[in-house]
Amino acid sequence: MSVHRIKKYGAPVLRDKAEQVTAFDAKLEKLLRDLEDTLRKCGGLGLAAPQIGVRRRVFVAFDEGKKRLFKIINPQVLEASGEEIEIEGCLSFPDIFFSIKRPLRVVISCETQKGRRTQIEATGLLARCFVHEIDHLNGKLIIDYATAQEKKYWKEKLDKLAG
Ligand code: CO
Repeated sequence: MSVHRIKKYGAPVLRDKAEQVTAFDAKLEKLLRDLEDTLRKCGGLGLAAPQIGVRRRVFVAFDEGKKRLFKIINPQVLEASGEEIEIEGCLSFPDIFFSIKRPLRVVISCETQKGRRTQIEATGLLARCFVHEIDHLNGKLIIDYATAQEKKYWKEKLDKLAG
């Protein structure tokens, strides 16, 4: 079991664009296991590799009800439709929440642990989670969606995090 410390807002790695995975090897398997262990320990819905300091296009995400854990490699959004505004958090922003508009349904293309390309359709919370985690792989964070008013409201906590 390998639980990592989650990088918080202000850590430069969270702003980097992560790189495609090209080797489907033991190192990737270890990364997926570390992400899973860390997510289970920290209790979120999803966790992207940059959040544990690894610049790779990999994330893990639970479905609603946490029955299934998706292990997603090299994702791309193929389709997005509908929109919904919900309050959203992030393990890199503890106890801070923003109201974010996300698609209601997405179809993503991604690779499996063995390097096989596949597609997954997601709706509701899982779709929101997928798009949130893909943002992480592009260095985009929930604060980028925040209004000036929301940033002002959370200023003290944000300043403390970014230190
Ligand atoms: Co996040």
